Amino acid sequence: MSNLTATALSCANIAFIKYWGNRNNELRLPSNGSISMNLDGLFTRTTVSFQPSLPFDELIINGREVTGKGLSRVSYILDLVRETAGINLNAEVMSENNFPAGAGIASSAAAFSALALAASRAVGLTLTEAQLSRLARRGSGSASRSIPPGFVEWKMGTGDDDSIAESIAPPEHWNLVDCVAVVNAAHKKTGSTEGHAIAGTSPLQNARLEDTPRRLDICRSAILNKDFETFANIIELDSDIMHSVMMTSNPPLMYWQAATVGIFHAVREWRASGLPVGYTVDAGANVHVLCLGDHAREVEKRLREMPGVSNVLIAGVLAERRRSCNLSNCGSISFQRAGSAGFI
Ligand code: PMV
Repeated sequence: MSNLTATALSCANIAFIKYWGNRNNELRLPSNGSISMNLDGLFTRTTVSFQPSLPFDELIINGREVTGKGLSRVSYILDLVRETAGINLNAEVMSENNFPAGAGIASSAAAFSALALAASRAVGLTLTEAQLSRLARRGSGSASRSIPPGFVEWKMGTGDDDSIAESIAPPEHWNLVDCVAVVNAAHKKTGSTEGHAIAGTSPLQNARLEDTPRRLDICRSAILNKDFETFANIIELDSDIMHSVMMTSNPPLMYWQAATVGIFHAVREWRASGLPVGYTVDAGANVHVLCLGDHAREVEKRLREMPGVSNVLIAGVLAERRRSCNLSNCGSISFQRAGSAGFI
């Protein structure tokens, strides 16, 4: 890496048991553990280039320069990398997504995991999966889960060193597909960083946290046993509990729209009539409808017919799907690591 430049590709992930609230906001140490699946169809590609001629860090996302808070958050990760590597150069960061950012589709998870990989590699650091997961977490908690492959659990840990994510099952373990019903592709007004900070103001957050180990156990076992019915019930419960906390925070956060709730009703009816589907929603209005791979086309078709759905994005956990990449100048992609995230 003599030219201090590296490019990395990383995927979004969808949480089945959600992370909401930090016990340390600066270090992004979560108030609870979480479980997710990586989304191979939805990714960010980031190039980091440290250059002696740059007077400050520069950030370009999807061709547009970003300054202010967005840039500071990226510089914070670059500072951690500079400190570890013992260098003092500013960097240009160029990032591109193939899905809407800031709309509850975990764009920050893909973005900060790709940034952690590219920045550390650009300065010649060879970090372990655990070290990368920890570094990505400092930019966005959910990004820690986009580093290991497949189905992933992020443990609360006791501190900065051990609050990291690990695979609980490889991608080929279970052919689950996420059909993301886009009802609002606009950037949300209140991001998750602000949301985490007020989670404790909800009178429901403590009850949510107390019950989380139970939900984690149920969800982990359902994934390991490929028990879809139990899986669908627990992800819906967990998502509904998190949104109950959001809605009862001060100030209240209401991410759902009418179309969001319409999809909840439809998904439950479809499941009752035998279609293996379940829903979950992140900090946005868009609904992630999880299904078994064989049913993805049918689910997509039904979602497209729903009122208020402007698009449906399909993302599986299977590694082969990574080839169906859709970025403007992506070309063919090959990975240097077997994990979810890697270098190109
Ligand atoms: O990593 P953040 O700060 O973008 O928070 C993610 C929060 C949720 O998407 C709502 C839940 C999760 O665990 O991904």
